[in-house]
Amino acid sequence: MILLSVYLLIATLVTASTTANKTIDSQKEYRPRGPLIKCTFLPMEFIECDELIDHKGNKTAKEVNQGLGCVKFGGARYEDVEKAKATCRVLPDIECHGEREFNRSGFPCVKYSGHYFTLTLLYSILLGFLGMDRFCLGQTGTAVGKLLTLGGLGVWWIVDVFLLVTNSLLPEDGSNWNPYV
Ligand SMILES: *[C@@H]1O[C@H](CO)[C@@H](O)[C@H](O)[C@H]1NC(C)=O
Ligand SMILES: *[C@@H]1O[C@H](CO)[C@@H](O)[C@H](O)[C@H]1NC(C)=O
Ligand SMILES: *[C@@H]1O[C@H](CO)[C@@H](O)[C@H](O)[C@H]1NC(C)=O
Repeated sequence: MILLSVYLLIATLVTASTTANKTIDSQKEYRPRGPLIKCTFLPMEFIECDELIDHKGNKTAKEVNQGLGCVKFGGARYEDVEKAKATCRVLPDIECHGEREFNRSGFPCVKYSGHYFTLTLLYSILLGFLGMDRFCLGQTGTAVGKLLTLGGLGVWWIVDVFLLVTNSLLPEDGSNWNPYV
């Protein structure tokens, strides 16, 4: 009787360790038809990504980091906006196959810091002679010049309205117009 129970115990232990190894193996080898998808394929809802690194115009820094981070932010058209990689982590308790931390590509290099196009245009039209538009955009140097010359005696005032409409006068920090009014 004792022998039988010892035998059963050993049998159970052996089965358990074999099963344990099986699960480890199944995680090592990727099975496309298996229940686990690759971590790198997870949609954004299941991962958390770092903010894009700002290389501040240093192209070499981006190359050294294999495309991680942005050389420059901003751009109005899709083709003008730089794309960059960011380091992403799978959220805890989400099961997937492979490394849980990876670099994902294709993030657009844009940032928002509370600049509104309509508001700035109103400032430019109504208070352009005081340089209010440029003060708000953070272009303090030219703003003071505009204020002291009373909007370049009206000429600069008009030119800046034109520049704003043609998307040539933008926030100094390289951020985009806030899309939500
Ligand atoms: C399970 O795997 C470990 C290491 O991966 C190995 O040492 C052990 O012998 C394996 N056990 C069985 C029952 O295959
Ligand atoms: C640009 O980045 C590289 C790599 O990080 C660094 O060696 C270099 O000094 C940087 N250049 C400038 C101008 O900051
Ligand atoms: C992401 O890229 C950076 C820069 O190339 C590298 O140092 C880092 O190890 C990468 N991270 C992963 C998880 O591959």
